[in-house]
Amino acid sequence: MKESELRTLLSDLSLEEKIGQLIQLPGYFQNAGNITGPAGDMGFTQEDLRLAGSYLSIIGAEKLKKMQTEFMAQHPHHIPLLFMADIINGYRTVFPIPLAQACTFDPELVEDSAAVAAREAAASGIHVTFSPMADLVRDARWGRVMESAGEDPFLSGHMAAAMVRGYQGSDLREPGRIAACLKHFAGYGAPEGGRDYNTVELSERTLREDYLPAYAAAVNAGCELVMTSFNTLNRIPSAANTWLLREILRREMGFEGMIISDWNALEELLAHGIAADPSEAAFLALRAGVDMDMVSPIYACNLKALVENGKVPMKWIDESVWRILSLKNRLGLFEHPFKDADETAEKTVLLSDENRLRARKCAEQSFVLLRNEDALLPLSGTDAVFIGPYAESPLLNGVWSIFADDSDTVSLGSALRRCPQTREVPIARGCTMCDPEQPPIGFQHPLPLETLDAETALEEAVRLAKNAEKVVLCLGEHRECSGEAASRGDLSLPRCQLRLLDAVAAVNSNLIVVLFTGRPLDLRPLAEKAKSILLCWLPGTEGGEAVLNTLLGANNPSGKLSMSFPYCTGQVPVHYNHLNTGRPWKGGIREGRFGSKYQDIPNAPLYPFGYGLSYTTFTCSPVTLSAAHLTRSSTIRAAVTLTNTGTRTGTETVQLYIRDLSGSVARPVRELKGFTRVSLAPGESQEVAFTITEEMLRFYRLSMEYASECGDFDVFIGCDSRTDNGARFTLTE
Ligand code: BGC
Repeated sequence: MKESELRTLLSDLSLEEKIGQLIQLPGYFQNAGNITGPAGDMGFTQEDLRLAGSYLSIIGAEKLKKMQTEFMAQHPHHIPLLFMADIINGYRTVFPIPLAQACTFDPELVEDSAAVAAREAAASGIHVTFSPMADLVRDARWGRVMESAGEDPFLSGHMAAAMVRGYQGSDLREPGRIAACLKHFAGYGAPEGGRDYNTVELSERTLREDYLPAYAAAVNAGCELVMTSFNTLNRIPSAANTWLLREILRREMGFEGMIISDWNALEELLAHGIAADPSEAAFLALRAGVDMDMVSPIYACNLKALVENGKVPMKWIDESVWRILSLKNRLGLFEHPFKDADETAEKTVLLSDENRLRARKCAEQSFVLLRNEDALLPLSGTDAVFIGPYAESPLLNGVWSIFADDSDTVSLGSALRRCPQTREVPIARGCTMCDPEQPPIGFQHPLPLETLDAETALEEAVRLAKNAEKVVLCLGEHRECSGEAASRGDLSLPRCQLRLLDAVAAVNSNLIVVLFTGRPLDLRPLAEKAKSILLCWLPGTEGGEAVLNTLLGANNPSGKLSMSFPYCTGQVPVHYNHLNTGRPWKGGIREGRFGSKYQDIPNAPLYPFGYGLSYTTFTCSPVTLSAAHLTRSSTIRAAVTLTNTGTRTGTETVQLYIRDLSGSVARPVRELKGFTRVSLAPGESQEVAFTITEEMLRFYRLSMEYASECGDFDVFIGCDSRTDNGARFTLTE
């Protein structure tokens, strides 16, 4: 539709029709039939259902085409609905969770994964995905770390932008493209105590320096929508935060797309104690700039009266409706209301061999080898037994894979049985996945009672382990232990799994742990007892194949941690890019009382950001700089030579960190500023160079101006965030 036609449409709409556009209803309203169901209980009228702008979480080409047809036929202006859903890491073909995808340090691969998810979802009639989540995270207790790209602003920004490109392409009207909704604006990843939905307090400097850049990267990549966060940020809930939405997001970041609240967040303004009644909640949210109300009845039940009594200017309503109509128009829905919904395409695109292959490649690249003493991995094929609750479990998708079917997932057990080399290897469960006496509370899909005679299962596992050359122990957190509302106060593995670990380790020291998890865990017992640890996260549909390929050496692990694994729960939040403090503690020696340290644990995480081994080994030569001085108009070339010193071809991610030694405000001990993946054959060397510019040195100065300051800087280039391989340069005027 031409812009002039869209303007005419807007001006032709009645107030009720305009307000209708601002409302998003949940799919279950449709399933429940009509207004006597949950919709009526919440205060919606039949008219609201008739005029709504969008529905979420309904899928299926046939269903959505029928719904769109019927809806448009009865709508006074025949405006199409927007169909939105959470397509987080795949639709029917599930990719690794986003935290794992970030471990690939490969934005192109992540873009490609998002493009596959978009193609599948589009075929099923979806127009918008609630992804990427660009919330920076530092606290593994928060269950939603699994949806993030981890603790680093630079890496998170690259991943968020890659996902936006993957979903949207260069033109939303292209077949197989959907619009991306960046979330959750802002600061949702920093809840007090790691408890979901909890209070967030961030200084403006920390917010701008660390938390906003990843959102800004997604906005710059052209994301069409932004979702507000549930939390208060410095005591103001985001959905009512005019400064955050109008000043930062719209004016400073230049975001012109549509803003949607999170699920029922407008009604939650009452619980936050910022709105005295639903009418005030509607006023505050619209004033702040929330265009669409997800699921709550706040806009539907209050905006009309607010406009009629003059408290809400029509201009606010019109601006929001315009943004929603414009998005519908950019998606081409006025001409093609079904967009790509197509039952035939669903049959060929969803779970196609090609998509499965891409999911497998992505999973393989996301695995992080945390330990490999005595080169216990890779296996030679038949020299190991497989034990543990994850050995045959198909629960390898993260909790957001709500449209996937577990029966499509290849478990490790089925991959072992398919592969001629491993067809005969013994497999035993050993124990249940969760502690029978301490089951986690609040599972969305309550576990079927895991029936297992614990003593017999343990005895069988020990018997197998005793007679085997190597043991592959498949452990981890149940997938429902991470994700939304899955915060935990203890990051240990379940006790039954630790008991299995002890029992198996007592009879066989050639222990390899394959770890499945949605978040960093306390891995001390594993690091003590297992010679090898392969972190496989929640790898998705092709998880089993990807794990087996890696265990057998067909894939050489190359993932790097996107989030530090803490030494223990008491150490979180922990992140590599912290400030130095006035009393930095070098660690190692237990001496001196008054340093910034713990009495009982180290300051360093067990496995830091950027860390990950390979079946081969790499060395980095000392850093060489093309100049010792940098100016605003010059650059420095910083280079190392990377050599594969092992016996296999492998891929290393070379990382560039910079430290500003002195500034008008305290500066982090180092910050990631570049990374490159390099593949090398045994004995091969390659020069890896980065260009350092003045722009990379900018930060929020004392005055809050975003600029660099002259002085000395350390540059480190190496294979993880601890590298000391450095050189110094000076920034001059
Ligand atoms: C989550 C969002 C999600 C929305 C819609 C909320 O509970 O916080 O991330 O997109 O539900 O399903």
